[in-house]
Amino acid sequence: MPKAVVYRQYGVPAETVEVVDLPAAAPGPGQVLVENVLAPINPADLNTVEGKYPVRYPLPATPGVEGVATVAEVGPGVTGFQPGQAVLLPHGYGTWREGGVVEAESLFPVPEGVPYAEAAMIKINPCTAWRMLHDFVAPQPGAWVVQNAGNSGVGRAVIAIAQKIGLRTVSLVRRPELIEELTAAGGDVVLLDDDNAKAEIKARTEGAKIYLGLNSVGGESATRVANALAQGGKVITFGAMSRQPMKIPTGLLIFKDIRFLGFWMTRWYQSATEADARAMYAELLGMAREGAFKTPIDRVYPVTEIQEAVTRALQGGRAGKVLLGKGL
Ligand SMILES: NC(=O)c1ccc[n+]([C@@H]2O[C@H](COP(=O)([O-])OP(=O)(O)OC[C@H]3O[C@@H](n4cnc5c(N)ncnc54)[C@H](OP(=O)(O)O)[C@@H]3O)[C@@H](O)[C@H]2O)c1
Repeated sequence: MPKAVVYRQYGVPAETVEVVDLPAAAPGPGQVLVENVLAPINPADLNTVEGKYPVRYPLPATPGVEGVATVAEVGPGVTGFQPGQAVLLPHGYGTWREGGVVEAESLFPVPEGVPYAEAAMIKINPCTAWRMLHDFVAPQPGAWVVQNAGNSGVGRAVIAIAQKIGLRTVSLVRRPELIEELTAAGGDVVLLDDDNAKAEIKARTEGAKIYLGLNSVGGESATRVANALAQGGKVITFGAMSRQPMKIPTGLLIFKDIRFLGFWMTRWYQSATEADARAMYAELLGMAREGAFKTPIDRVYPVTEIQEAVTRALQGGRAGKVLLGKGL
């Protein structure tokens, strides 16, 4: 019997999640039985279990917004899917499980040659990076974008997509050992997220006017991103890893007309057409097949070790993402 993670109330993830057996299920008309391969533990999943995320599912619920599976069996009338084929699971499916029955029309086929781990993590972080690099400031060849948490999943996707579409990146990180690593991964300028950042950004970009800043940290770090921007630049806030409120110096509003905006992938999915979402998946999976994304993995845990997995995922300074599943 396949197993799934569930939570019956909100609380500290390691104390709240448990593993249950799912009844064996067969696919009905238009449905597909899938075996899950990999699903990441994203910060938003943990916030959801904590009850600190604006999306709440009826309880008990299974966490996990994205993941990759293989087709085990197709139901009557299903065309276009074969056993063994890799598929992206539907957004918000509850991917922290070993398998289940899914509507065929909600699946997206993963092309041959895409690493499972990158497919499992495509729908949230690379899609967020893709949208933020396209939807706020029209990308101009050679233009700069500045971001904090440059080594995060989103940060690495920003670097990869920026390279692909001809933008240049300034990435701020909080650990010195990441500078060499992210530079090797394609970051144009990688700097420590400290009080020297403003002057260093100016020097390393030769005073270029920067119009797009991406903030997922908050606090002083968000101010550093905003301080790097030219008049009329936009700070897009999409996360708050430090859990510190943003401080916005008044002068940035009055004299530099800096715009402070937010982005939420869930909101984009709610208003986007299915065709727009599928076009984005195809583009990003194509990049993944070319090897554009090399998201570091800290560790893959089986679903049965969920307590250890969520505890690890909540620790800072990890070597990369924590995933649930069968292994790499
Ligand atoms: N709005 C949206 O639609 C959307 C979509 C995707 C992601 N996000 C948000 O984006 C953020 C990053 O997500 P992710 O999956 O890319 O993260 P991730 O891969 O798990 O990486 C976490 C990042 O946060 C940093 N960090 C952890 N604790 C911190 C602290 N107390 N102060 C400063 N930095 C800290 C880590 O730095 P170290 O490695 O040094 O610990 C790392 O760079 C999260 O807040 C997530 O919720 C939002």
